[in-house]
Amino acid sequence: MTYQVTIQPSGHQFSVKPNETLLGAALNAGFSLPYGCRNGACGACKGKVLAGSVDYGTHQDSALTHEDKLKGLALFCCAKATSDLTIEVKEVGAAKDIPIKTLPCRVERMEKLAEDVMAIWLKLPSNERLQFLPGQYLDFLLKDGKRRSFSLANSPEEDSLLELHIRHVPGGQFTDHVFGAMKAKDIMRISGPYGSFFLRESDKPAIFLAGGTGFAPIKSILQHAFHHAVARECVLYWGAKTPPDLYLTNLAEQWQQEQNNFRFIPVLSEPRAEDAWPGRTGYVHQAVLDDHADFSGYEVYACGAPPMVAAAKRDFMARGLPEDAFFSDSFDYQSGG
Ligand SMILES: Cc1cc2nc3c(=O)[nH]c(=O)nc-3n(C[C@H](O)[C@H](O)[C@H](O)COP(=O)(O)OP(=O)(O)OC[C@H]3O[C@@H](n4cnc5c(N)ncnc54)[C@H](O)[C@@H]3O)c2cc1C
Ligand code: FES
Repeated sequence: MTYQVTIQPSGHQFSVKPNETLLGAALNAGFSLPYGCRNGACGACKGKVLAGSVDYGTHQDSALTHEDKLKGLALFCCAKATSDLTIEVKEVGAAKDIPIKTLPCRVERMEKLAEDVMAIWLKLPSNERLQFLPGQYLDFLLKDGKRRSFSLANSPEEDSLLELHIRHVPGGQFTDHVFGAMKAKDIMRISGPYGSFFLRESDKPAIFLAGGTGFAPIKSILQHAFHHAVARECVLYWGAKTPPDLYLTNLAEQWQQEQNNFRFIPVLSEPRAEDAWPGRTGYVHQAVLDDHADFSGYEVYACGAPPMVAAAKRDFMARGLPEDAFFSDSFDYQSGG
């Protein structure tokens, strides 16, 4: 059995099973309702039940008071439908709709994905979640007041742990620490989400261009798109120096096998003779140029080192890419700040 839920004012509709929360079912159906803790504690998911009835679920009284209930309000992260429903809530349409939070977190797990790439998974306190758009990033807040930015590599659908791919910058204050001293159970402080590098709604084919750990936010974007069966054509060009630097090729190849609308093109700039590399070589943005004479019908999402992002923008626009169809996160560094 399922119930039908209509969201006002958007008119969007989704179905929900009796044992599912309204928030969980809406997110699964691709509708971004606001949320914070997903645990009945913060009130960020509060909305109005205009018609129908709900089971309020387990929540803290401070997050949903008796007066709130009398006004028809409910916490959608814990409320379950007991009839067809019409609810009123403003869907998250842009980064500005998501509140920025500062949170403590614990390093849950670390894994070296390549000689100079560390994946770390962060766990938030049990009553907290970080809502974000796939492609956004967070900042580590260091003890001396400095910040270091890293893109979220997990998709929002799998947000019980926050996944980051951190490249070692030798001599770098923070990444030296990650590779030399950080260990599981360390406590850090983060703030986020930030940034506007997320997939726009469009039917245009999308070209993703990743340099090194620029793959991280693109992984989040693509996994979110696959989860919601986004039908547009997507191609990923992922560039690095040598084969081990493309640290999750198995995953990208698996996507290519599973998704009809996705292609993966790895590109190496410095393959060694012993690699016997059969694939594309050179700079990754040049490989995209070699394959496309005219970019006017495309959207491009580029992420990685600043020179790569700048070259891609300049050269793709020279071949017809509209400026408002180029989205990027340039991995600038924040020394001194
Ligand atoms: C929005 C955003 C998202 C980012 N996401 C990621 C991510 O997902 N994964 C990731 O690996 N990196 C990412 N970066 C880059 C990352 O933030 C920096 O590499 C990091 O801040 C370096 O910190 P550090 O303290 O180790 O180095 P610092 O002590 O700040 O720097 C030491 C010196 O190393 C050099 N340096 C520092 N960073 C870089 C760099 N990125 N490239 C070249 N030289 C550098 C500079 O000369 C600098 O003076 C992102 C950057 C931004 C702005
Ligand atoms: S009460 Fe925090 S998200 Fe629902």
